Amino acid sequence: MNIGIITGASSGMGKEFVKLTMQNHLDLDEIWVIARRKERLEAWPSLYKEQKFRILPLDLQKKEDVECLKQILEETQPHIELFVHCAGFGIMGKIQDISMEEQAEMVDVNCRSVVEISSLLLPYMKYRGRMIYMASAAAFLPQPGFAVYAASKAFVLSYVRALRAENRERQLRVTAVCPGAVKTEFFNRALTKKHLPAYKKLVMADPKKVIKKAWKDNQQNKEISVYGKAIKLTHLVTKILPHSLFLQFIGRK
Ligand SMILES: NC(=O)c1ccc[n+]([C@@H]2O[C@H](COP(=O)([O-])OP(=O)(O)OC[C@H]3O[C@@H](n4cnc5c(N)ncnc54)[C@H](OP(=O)(O)O)[C@@H]3O)[C@@H](O)[C@H]2O)c1
Repeated sequence: MNIGIITGASSGMGKEFVKLTMQNHLDLDEIWVIARRKERLEAWPSLYKEQKFRILPLDLQKKEDVECLKQILEETQPHIELFVHCAGFGIMGKIQDISMEEQAEMVDVNCRSVVEISSLLLPYMKYRGRMIYMASAAAFLPQPGFAVYAASKAFVLSYVRALRAENRERQLRVTAVCPGAVKTEFFNRALTKKHLPAYKKLVMADPKKVIKKAWKDNQQNKEISVYGKAIKLTHLVTKILPHSLFLQFIGRK
């Protein structure tokens, strides 16, 4: 059975990936959609009647839910053509203003789930299969005021690059997607402790465009997908200049 798996499929960029997968007619026997909000996942089969979906309302923070995915994989023995990992969240604010529990949750969903799910799926990935992970431009530089999130995405970027190198012989196409601010529900939770600078609201990218580029970059087997001139420039300068220089100016308040 040929399948695609998309996490974070209830909202934002994950939702856009489901739509794009359908538009690209990958001829998948099933698309497995993962997120906690079951009612949102259940909307997919009625939207695309021609496609079989498997609704997996899993909380990737919970060990028992990850174990449940493991069992389904063992029972189904699928051939995975496409894996997209979009589940993730961030909370802006200084370290001392965010509870230890919330900080650990960010690490669990953004990092631990990447490690666990990748380990579970790798044996089932098809030769030349596609793996797309949502990192962030926050991965390029430490971010005072968004420290745990930026560190978690630096982890994702580093992990994904190594995963890609390890699987060169299987020709897995593995891409880390690193957008700047994107207009999604992400900010509903991200901004519970902090206001968003006005300029960020103005430069928020359209999720459809970010995902379209990520899809194309992954098809072309690019390691990193960066959308937009400003973020491309940020990527470049953060590779060239010492990070200590930026850290003198950002997050001073
Ligand atoms: N928006 C941005 O500015 C931006 C920029 C760069 C990178 N990113 C990254 O892009 C990814 C997608 O974010 P988005 O912007 O599309 O935000 P979003 O609309 O809030 O979507 C986040 C998705 O993650 C799922 N999720 C969160 N916690 C989960 C958990 N414990 N278990 C399972 N699923 C969980 C949510 O589903 P449920 O709530 O239904 O579980 C939702 O489908 C995230 O990794 C985010 O860090 C976002």
